[in-house]
Amino acid sequence: MIKIAVLVSGSGSNLQALIDANLSGEIVGVISNRPEAYALQRAEQAGIQTTVIEHKQYPSRQAFDDVMHQQLLEWNVDLVILAGFMRILSPEFVQAWEGKMVNIHPSLLPAYKGMHTHLRVLKTGDTLHGCTVHFVTAELDAGQALTQGVLSVSHKDTAETLAERVHVLEHLIYPQAVEWICNGTIQHLNNGQVLYKGQPLTRPVQFCNF
Ligand code: GRF
Repeated sequence: MIKIAVLVSGSGSNLQALIDANLSGEIVGVISNRPEAYALQRAEQAGIQTTVIEHKQYPSRQAFDDVMHQQLLEWNVDLVILAGFMRILSPEFVQAWEGKMVNIHPSLLPAYKGMHTHLRVLKTGDTLHGCTVHFVTAELDAGQALTQGVLSVSHKDTAETLAERVHVLEHLIYPQAVEWICNGTIQHLNNGQVLYKGQPLTRPVQFCNF
């Protein structure tokens, strides 16, 4: 069974969705860089080990990442899930977990990498928006996209309503992508190629909510 660690900084609603999904992998631990993160309570309620590694207590990004890396090795982790983890990871850490680390981003990547995605979508006047689960690579929000949730933007939407609606989709597409990794439907090969059902994945599997 695949052993999973989830890295969090905040509310952890995506962590909750992963817990509730009864994945065929096992969530063996949750790491938070913030002691006050509500995600820690969610993990404890589910009987999952938690560790707080406060970035502020380390002299450098590399030193903080090294401690996380050691904890992941100690837990014998196969897959690292970033679920609202608000720290940029060092290239060394990303390389160590390449092909074994996924993230969810609130936009239809490659559109709107970075922050404030909902506001930027509204300013541009896009009619479609959503979220993307992707493998993590050294370049920000640029790894192979696995699943996407797509919704249509209403003229009544604000950044807040969009954030809420995208969150609903996140809770659908994140557990699905993770389950596909756990059961081998999605494979990351050593040469960097990603397979879906044994064939090269050329674009993410989309779930639409129109
Ligand atoms: C989500 O919006 C996700 O897209 C982003 O961070 C947020 C995490 O929310 N990466 P939660 O802590 O899972 O509720």
